[in-house]
Amino acid sequence: MAAAGGAKAETITMFCGATDYDLCVKAAKNWGEKTGNTANINKMPAQLDDAIPLFQQLLAAKSTDVDVLFLDVIWLGIFKNNLLDLSTLVPKEEQDQHIKATLDAGLLDGKLISMPMYMDVGLMYYRKDLLDKYGMQPPKTWDELASDAKTIQDKERAAGSADMWGYTWQAKSYEGLTCDAIELVASNGGGTIIDPDGKVTIDNPAAAEAIGKAKDWIGSISPEGTLNYDEEASRAVFEAGNSVFHRNWPYVWGTSNGDGSKVAGKVGVMPLPVGKEGQKSSGCLGPMYVAISKYSAHPDAAASFVRYITGPEMQKIRAVDGAYNPSITRLYQDPDILKKLPFLKDNTVAFQDAATRPSGYTGSSYNRVSQTFYRGVHDMLTGGDIPGGLKSMAARLEKQKESR
Ligand code: GLC
Repeated sequence: MAAAGGAKAETITMFCGATDYDLCVKAAKNWGEKTGNTANINKMPAQLDDAIPLFQQLLAAKSTDVDVLFLDVIWLGIFKNNLLDLSTLVPKEEQDQHIKATLDAGLLDGKLISMPMYMDVGLMYYRKDLLDKYGMQPPKTWDELASDAKTIQDKERAAGSADMWGYTWQAKSYEGLTCDAIELVASNGGGTIIDPDGKVTIDNPAAAEAIGKAKDWIGSISPEGTLNYDEEASRAVFEAGNSVFHRNWPYVWGTSNGDGSKVAGKVGVMPLPVGKEGQKSSGCLGPMYVAISKYSAHPDAAASFVRYITGPEMQKIRAVDGAYNPSITRLYQDPDILKKLPFLKDNTVAFQDAATRPSGYTGSSYNRVSQTFYRGVHDMLTGGDIPGGLKSMAARLEKQKESR
């Protein structure tokens, strides 16, 4: 480790995601013991998007109050001008341990502005015990899922589980809905809003069909509350035992099998279904990164911490303790990790087939583009006209994508 090497111990500060907080504190403790330095961990707002204005303020003020930032993949273009180039701060052989496409996404304008901390991809959880009880196989298409969800929900309710729902997911008006909706649209052959060349593709019949189906689920197999659910709110319903299927990220394998979950040991997980035969399962790709503020007064200590928190020791702890999927390739063969996460091999397929949000093309205007998308979809799910909504959304996106 590039420790403080005899010099005065240094103190750095990192902002970490709310659900990642405990593992960041653990990383800080381990790193502190190894180097004699201190890393203070601040919790980011519960909803990740709310950190964007916070980070923007800190960086605009050239604040030295933060050294290390936790970044969603879609924010890299937003913050790239305020981040240090890590290409010489992190040794090349350490960089090359990571999944290449994921490392490369952190490389902007020839600078390595961030290092991957873990992979994220949308997955489908289900109640294995209930599918077994009704003699069902895990569904392959969204239509099969909806139909199985309805059958099991109705039978379970009739048998006394009054609070049972078929499917819980995230449809609050926020970034998470961009993910959930892009998964439905892309796996139905409707594209990913704006294609990698910058063409706005969202106004198409396959997209309209996918959103129309999701609209029909609300109030039927998904509670009305879905329109206000984020990951944590929807997870609570699943882990209370009140949902047959549940869409969420890999960490839910850990929480749903942990203390406080009523469904521990009864959960199955698989790639998301497809809308149409021949289409790929299209989990939203959401790797998380860490980066160093250009205004850090402790860049060397910060780089040492970044190397530790993104390195193999911590990625293994994060996988075993929290079910987070590593971005370091060789950990996919690690027996301790595979014991805890037997489905990890399927996830590597899910990463390859994943739906990528259009942040590469839109760069610093991604946030506005995504807001237009999720607000528009939320409106359609609550009763707004779908074909008309997609048409006006496409016109708005045409203007916004160019403001990058
Ligand atoms: C997860 C993903 C992230 C995504 C967010 C949406 O944290 O890692 O990429 O933007 O969920 O809520």
